[in-house]
Amino acid sequence: MSIKNRRKFAIILAAGDGKRMKCDQPKVLCEVLFQPMLKWVENACRSAGLDEIYIVAGDQPDALSQVVSSDCSIVIQAERRGTGHAVMMAADALGAGGDVIVLYGDAPFINEDVINAALAQHQAQRNAVTVVTAKVSDPTGYGRIIRGADGEIAGIVEQKDATDAQRKIDEINSGVYWFDAAFLADALQKLTCQNAQGEYYLTDTVKIALETGARAGGFLCEDGDVILGANDRKGLKLLNEIARNREIDRHLSNGVDIPLDDGVIIGLGVFIDHDARIMPGTVLLGDTKIGAHAVIGPNSYIKDSTVGAGSSILSSYLTDSTVGEGTTVGPFTQLRPNSHIGNGAKIGDFVEVKNSTIGDKTSVAHLTYIGDADVGSQVNFGCGVVIANYDGIHKFRTTIGDRAFIGCNTNLIPPVRVGEGAYTAAGTTVDSDVPDGALSIGRARQEIKEQWAAKNINFKGGKKATEV
Ligand code: UD1
Ligand code: CA
Repeated sequence: MSIKNRRKFAIILAAGDGKRMKCDQPKVLCEVLFQPMLKWVENACRSAGLDEIYIVAGDQPDALSQVVSSDCSIVIQAERRGTGHAVMMAADALGAGGDVIVLYGDAPFINEDVINAALAQHQAQRNAVTVVTAKVSDPTGYGRIIRGADGEIAGIVEQKDATDAQRKIDEINSGVYWFDAAFLADALQKLTCQNAQGEYYLTDTVKIALETGARAGGFLCEDGDVILGANDRKGLKLLNEIARNREIDRHLSNGVDIPLDDGVIIGLGVFIDHDARIMPGTVLLGDTKIGAHAVIGPNSYIKDSTVGAGSSILSSYLTDSTVGEGTTVGPFTQLRPNSHIGNGAKIGDFVEVKNSTIGDKTSVAHLTYIGDADVGSQVNFGCGVVIANYDGIHKFRTTIGDRAFIGCNTNLIPPVRVGEGAYTAAGTTVDSDVPDGALSIGRARQEIKEQWAAKNINFKGGKKATEV
């Protein structure tokens, strides 16, 4: 079999609890840019062409399986007895041979390039183990890479087991390794826990390789960020800052205008077209797409939504919705799930839309609730229109035809249809269909009581004595 077709697979160590994070869920589920760290690592494996993935879970395996793809195999490490012991839990996977990468579920920045470059070196040098290493300014806490006179890896020594001289070494073990699976299966059986921490160290496999005359290599990773992990909330915040800046840089390179990035958070996978402008305080998440020349923010939250070219979203909250081109939304609008706004429309302040379509050039300028409605184009809503879509048990739909005019403070009680070009008078409650071009008016007739105030009000305060 050619080396290219050799089986390759991954083991992700993810048994850490959230103790230092002080979180209830497993640590690997803590999020970096709104994506669990474990998912970052899984995605890196997939991008690198690794689709056989084993995950070593601790006491909440179900929580992990909800986050990763269903074809990942989850094995359980009931007791944490070290990185070597964790890999032992997946030992069954090693039997069929090939090359296996071991990585950590709490180090999210590992990427396809490093995985594949390290594999290429691992295979070219025919190593039993290839350790991914990095040079860092502060190596405290990490295992140090010991190199022999020939520059080759001679071992890894943990911080707690290291001499003062060894602690000065700045090349560290990232915790990522490629192994020949057959070698690893054998080496795991030789691990002992005779060390300062009483654990089975996976790092000892390097020594075992060299003792048995097999080759151990080091792959030096140029970008130190790749190996960063998070042990506590401060570490997690640092990873979030790095990831956030990286995404912002990516959008800037694509021609997105982000004049200041204060409070700007753009999730992974968001698409923003060129010349769109992202103002401070804007959070864009999930499967969100922003068209060219759109202006988003300040102070807007958009999740799983599409905003068309040239539209503006000011101080508004959008989820699972679409906005057409040249439409203005906000300030202070909420588009709840399944709202679809057309082109050249205007959705203004204190307007809430839910599960509705609104046609082109329709204006809903202020203080209005539109729920479960299909609104045509060029419709005008006066201030304070309410669709009473819910009778406490059922929800019903409202239809409003093109060019209709909905007067201020109209209540629409569905199921009801307002025809094309129809009018509703201000303050009308509409509970039966309005034909095309008709006027619906339904309100108590106004009465005038002459001199009412003079008769009834004592202007020194309160009601007249005669009234009491
Ligand atoms: C380990 C390495 C060290 C390296 C460092 C990089 C060993 C002995 N040392 O040290 O050389 O520089 O990582 O971060 O391997 N885990 C389990 N089960 C266990 C123990 C650990 O799943 O029983 C997981 C942890 O959740 C974590 C990872 O393995 O994701 C690393 O474990 P950790 O205890 O942090 O290793 P370090 O002591 O930091
Ligand atoms: Ca660690």
